[in-house]
Amino acid sequence: MNQKLKKDKIIIIDFGSQVTKLIARRIREYKVFSEILTPEDLKKKYIFKDVKGIILSGGPATVVGTKFPDISKEIFNLNIPILGICYGLQLIVRHFKGKVKTNIKKREFGRALLFESKGSLLTKGFFHKHKSKVWMSHQDSVYKIPKEFVKIASTKESPVTIIENKKKNIYGIQFHPEATHTENGNIIFKNFLFNICKAKKQWKLDSEKVRIIKEIKNTIKKDKVICALSGGVDSSVVALLVHKAIGKRLKCVMVDTGLMRKNEFKSTYKIFKNKYKLNVKIINASKVYLRKLKNVSDPEKKRKIIGKLFIKIFENEALKFRGVKFLAQGTLYPDIIESKSATGSKSSKIKSHHNVGGLPKKMNLKLLEPLKELFKDEVRKLGDTVGLVKSISRKHPFPGPGLAIRIIGNITQEKINILQQADNIFLEQLIKHNLYNKIWQAYAALLPVKTVGVMGDSRTYEYICLLRAVISEDGMTADYFNFPKFFLDVISNKIVNGVKGINRVVYDITSKPPSTIELE
Ligand code: XMP
Repeated sequence: MNQKLKKDKIIIIDFGSQVTKLIARRIREYKVFSEILTPEDLKKKYIFKDVKGIILSGGPATVVGTKFPDISKEIFNLNIPILGICYGLQLIVRHFKGKVKTNIKKREFGRALLFESKGSLLTKGFFHKHKSKVWMSHQDSVYKIPKEFVKIASTKESPVTIIENKKKNIYGIQFHPEATHTENGNIIFKNFLFNICKAKKQWKLDSEKVRIIKEIKNTIKKDKVICALSGGVDSSVVALLVHKAIGKRLKCVMVDTGLMRKNEFKSTYKIFKNKYKLNVKIINASKVYLRKLKNVSDPEKKRKIIGKLFIKIFENEALKFRGVKFLAQGTLYPDIIESKSATGSKSSKIKSHHNVGGLPKKMNLKLLEPLKELFKDEVRKLGDTVGLVKSISRKHPFPGPGLAIRIIGNITQEKINILQQADNIFLEQLIKHNLYNKIWQAYAALLPVKTVGVMGDSRTYEYICLLRAVISEDGMTADYFNFPKFFLDVISNKIVNGVKGINRVVYDITSKPPSTIELE
């Protein structure tokens, strides 16, 4: 890593909270680089040069008792400002000999009203008339403030909700400022970063681009790289960055499974071939896919068949690229964090089906993952800095198995054609009505049931088309998008009139959880 381009950073020590990566996001939004580490990472001789602040995250463990995830005492003597959040606060209290107790009756989950008792650099501009609404999620609470610390705020249930040790620059808060339900949560981060840590706003995507390209050049040297290009944001940005670094020594392979959106694959191919002049090859494998998927209706079987075939085709192609040593992949930061547990061990499997994972084994290629420190929306913006067309850089996520998991039951060419048409109408209308960019992911699916309808004077007996559109921050949770009624009218009309084979349109109004974004 080229530190010259990064300078100031904040490290977040992850004790296993579900929302740690949101903390990293909030900090990067203030243009300060942030990195998530596990307590294990710190044991491996971590160099604190350039670290301007340390955040101790929340987590499911309890410091009440003797065994709990901990950090070395030395962290508190480095003269680097520290902010403990939830479990992080309790850890600070335990280190400085205060008292934390479990009190089920006083636990707080959800919104709480916070009362200010004293001003602090951390809470400047945070309270309104000495009160603030915050998001809580804890059952342990601080009962005795350690010596040298003072109380800044409390709620009805938690007598100590914010503490500070001004001399040592150590702060602890019980609530979650990273959660959007905490009003003004960002002010806490802003104050910590700039008033307390004195961090500089140095982290820019432009400098990231320069750093990444330089790093690719240094890693690859004179070698060759192969990349599976799908036309999604991640693989497209990877391809452009690697191409900028090593030119024609990058070969991109596009495997057309025949399960993509209407016209999409060929138009992506043309963009990369003609506009960006990449060394790209398209392989039409739609017939083989259709054959292998014949009469298969189990979703997991579909995924396995598609994944295996993809690896086989890609491997064959890679073997033709003589002397290739690296495989470039669009792994993102959330994938990396999700595969680490709070103790540093690999817990993983969470996203194994989401990546092209570990391919191709036979060739023993080294992995090149230039986006592994970035979040999805950062990758989209990085795409802009390398000139990626907006139709790709703002594209909704699309699953690897494609329409196969959006055609419920067995797959036929006829069903693919029907679904591609309906899906295309849906997307065109979303773009036309300026809704596409307000939605995380939208698609049409084909349900394996036929129902009766009437068109003109004739009876019809055709498929049901299900529409799904969700808003989400990272795909882990999602809510359905609230379309205005006129749009639902327009879309149902256009699909039923425009697509032979569909006579009924339904809109999916479930959130995730309990549903998932895809139907299969
Ligand atoms: P679910 O359906 O699990 O989806 O709520 C969350 C996100 O992951 C995508 N997804 C997949 N992506 N291969 C992929 O590459 C898959 O098998 C797969 N299944 C789900 C989904 O589109 C959503 O963005």
